[in-house]
Amino acid sequence: MKLLVTGGAGFIGSNFILYWLKNHPDDHIINFDKLTYAGNLENLKSVEDNANYSFIQGDISDPEAVTNVMAGIDTVVHFAAESHNDRANMDRLTTVLTNVVGTQVLLDAALENGVQRFHHIGTDEVFGHIGLEETRKFTEKTNYEPRSVYPASKAGADHLVRAYNIAFGLPVTITNCSNNFGPYQFPEKFIPLTITNLLEGRKIPVYGDGLYVRDWLYVEDHCRAIDMVLQKGKIGETYLVGGMTELHPNIEIAKKIIKLLGKDESAIEFVTDRPGHDRKYDVDWTKIKNELGWAPQHSFDEWLEKTVSWYRDNPQWWQRIKSGAYEEYYQKQYEDR
Ligand SMILES: NC(=O)c1ccc[n+]([C@@H]2O[C@H](COP(=O)([O-])OP(=O)(O)OC[C@H]3O[C@@H](n4cnc5c(N)ncnc54)[C@H](O)[C@@H]3O)[C@@H](O)[C@H]2O)c1
Repeated sequence: MKLLVTGGAGFIGSNFILYWLKNHPDDHIINFDKLTYAGNLENLKSVEDNANYSFIQGDISDPEAVTNVMAGIDTVVHFAAESHNDRANMDRLTTVLTNVVGTQVLLDAALENGVQRFHHIGTDEVFGHIGLEETRKFTEKTNYEPRSVYPASKAGADHLVRAYNIAFGLPVTITNCSNNFGPYQFPEKFIPLTITNLLEGRKIPVYGDGLYVRDWLYVEDHCRAIDMVLQKGKIGETYLVGGMTELHPNIEIAKKIIKLLGKDESAIEFVTDRPGHDRKYDVDWTKIKNELGWAPQHSFDEWLEKTVSWYRDNPQWWQRIKSGAYEEYYQKQYEDR
């Protein structure tokens, strides 16, 4: 099989490529990525000499580049996106160009080239949010109610993917997943930011009152879910993917990480909230469990411990990112508040 992975230099895309080449060593992968601030080819150092892997730098909203790279592809796994909420609220045009127009350009090229599967990576943030006191969960039937630019653009992409299946017969599948964590996550996101700041002896910024609840999904569990959908998923279907829900608010997770690293809770610093910050996401992944036999392999606490160890053992990876341009962004985002 020949796969086109878009956004393969990002957090989940690079974990997916490493996972896929390990579990399907005979398949060929082309990683097509623009290399924005979030793309980091260092994640893929261990496979760069693999004859079944190649990298092409390009923009998914560039029809010519996408047409060229689509030739001979059987399966598209589409991760590329502007994926950071705060940045998306600031740079709205780039977000829509990549997340909406880029998806449409890929769908057109996939259709023209007769690909056998177009798998789109969606987010649970398209469903809006759940009140802290509410017990409901998102399901495949929940209405879309995005509340800021990133989820609104991802919602647009999901609708386009479904429309290409219904209107033109493109064989698509979609997964909408909850917040991922694990190795190679850019240290602007909550869990790696908390771990690496603590390792550096810095304060850890926690938004608002810290009572934001996410259904944390370990990235390797997510990659396995995509694998199962590619192998056994039904064309035209959407599957929700979530973690071992224990519903810890961010402030509790910060405290768990502090404990794992033997640090002090005085490192916690509450910072001004961002606009449209969703309170809670909680995903019901019964459908993928019942239909495809998927479930997370470990509890949140076990995966968190493994993640903390990975960042502790790989300081060279995140220290390079946390210097230079990232510092400027970080200052604007947190320290000027
Ligand atoms: N990280 C999460 O918790 C999470 C949760 C739900 C869904 N998702 C979705 O999963 C996908 C991957 O997320 P991630 O966290 O790995 O993102 P990321 O920001 O780490 O990586 C995105 C990658 O896309 C590339 N990219 C951006 N614009 C591009 C363009 N125009 N053309 C080609 N490449 C481009 C970047 O260079 C980067 O390598 C996204 O679609 C995101 O919406 C992520």
